[in-house]
Amino acid sequence: MAFTLLSSPLQGFTDFRFRNAFQKYFGGIDTFYSPYIRLNGQFKIKTSYQNDLLLENNNTLEVIPQVITNDADEFLFVAKYVQSLGYKELNWNLGCPYPMVAKSGMGSGLICKPSKIEDVLKKAHSETDILVSMKMRMGYDNAEEILDVFPILDQYPLKNIAIHARIGKQLYKGPVDLNAFERCITSTKHKLYYNGDITSVQAFKTMQERFPSINHFMIGRGLIADPFLPQMIKNNTTTYPKNRWEIFEEFHNTIYQQYDAYLSGPTPIKMKMLGFWEYFSESCSNPQKVYKAIKKASNPVKYQNTVNEILNNERKSKN
Ligand SMILES: Cc1cc2nc3c(=O)[nH]c(=O)nc-3n(C[C@H](O)[C@H](O)[C@H](O)COP(=O)(O)O)c2cc1C
Repeated sequence: MAFTLLSSPLQGFTDFRFRNAFQKYFGGIDTFYSPYIRLNGQFKIKTSYQNDLLLENNNTLEVIPQVITNDADEFLFVAKYVQSLGYKELNWNLGCPYPMVAKSGMGSGLICKPSKIEDVLKKAHSETDILVSMKMRMGYDNAEEILDVFPILDQYPLKNIAIHARIGKQLYKGPVDLNAFERCITSTKHKLYYNGDITSVQAFKTMQERFPSINHFMIGRGLIADPFLPQMIKNNTTTYPKNRWEIFEEFHNTIYQQYDAYLSGPTPIKMKMLGFWEYFSESCSNPQKVYKAIKKASNPVKYQNTVNEILNNERKSKN
């Protein structure tokens, strides 16, 4: 069955620089969600969010903006902003698990408050013509919370509901709950997208076989850990291109140069790349050793030498 692959947003990782480089060197993703916009009580869009969404920074990509809020006026403000840029859809984040966010009744902390969700959706649908989609977990404390939200969601013409098959209090740990996700499929009239732990071609196939009615799949961390994954899923192959590490090297150098130009000083770029290597290292033969080596690289020259050494080692190893 034909299917669509979407890049699930990762704040701090999947901004426009990453998305463009990813698209150039790897491909396989049909649509990218941008990391969420958060207003923090002020009706002002931060410059970094603006840059992330400008059409000229995304001119070869299909991008859907995302917002995190529990306030109808904030939702409307962001909806109108993204519409002014030319976007037709706004994705609403009810998934973020971080205690600071969830405790303030946002992200996955909003799932247990159906009436608040209704307030936002009501205003969004009466005062704008933006297409709304959702990205949710199944609850914060338990996976039944979402079942009380579906009757409200079913009253609105949402484009889809993407579900990360975990609950908020799990953060990003522990198994996805596939039985609970399956129950969601029969509990709403809306189209569901599956999200969670697609980290290999085999993992994708397992989800596809388990949920034959689902034809939209979102990949988050797996895409950063192995940027070849989406295209390999699309090509139904577990074989990497022969020049795998050359392609990866060019991609790495592209994002390095762009973040280096954007961030000032050696420490921010080091921290940025270390964040990426937490995921990149997972595709290397010895993840812990690779991550430690990057962590130890104390200046840009040492960093570049360490990266060269890592990539040379990978070229020599069999994968
Ligand atoms: C560091 C980090 C940042 C994230 N930022 C966002 C975000 O801005 N918006 C969002 O909807 N999800 C965010 N997520 C959740 C992912 O998009 C995704 O739903 C989750 O990681 C499960 O999918 P995966 O197992 O494929 O990674 C984030 C996850 C991580 C680890």
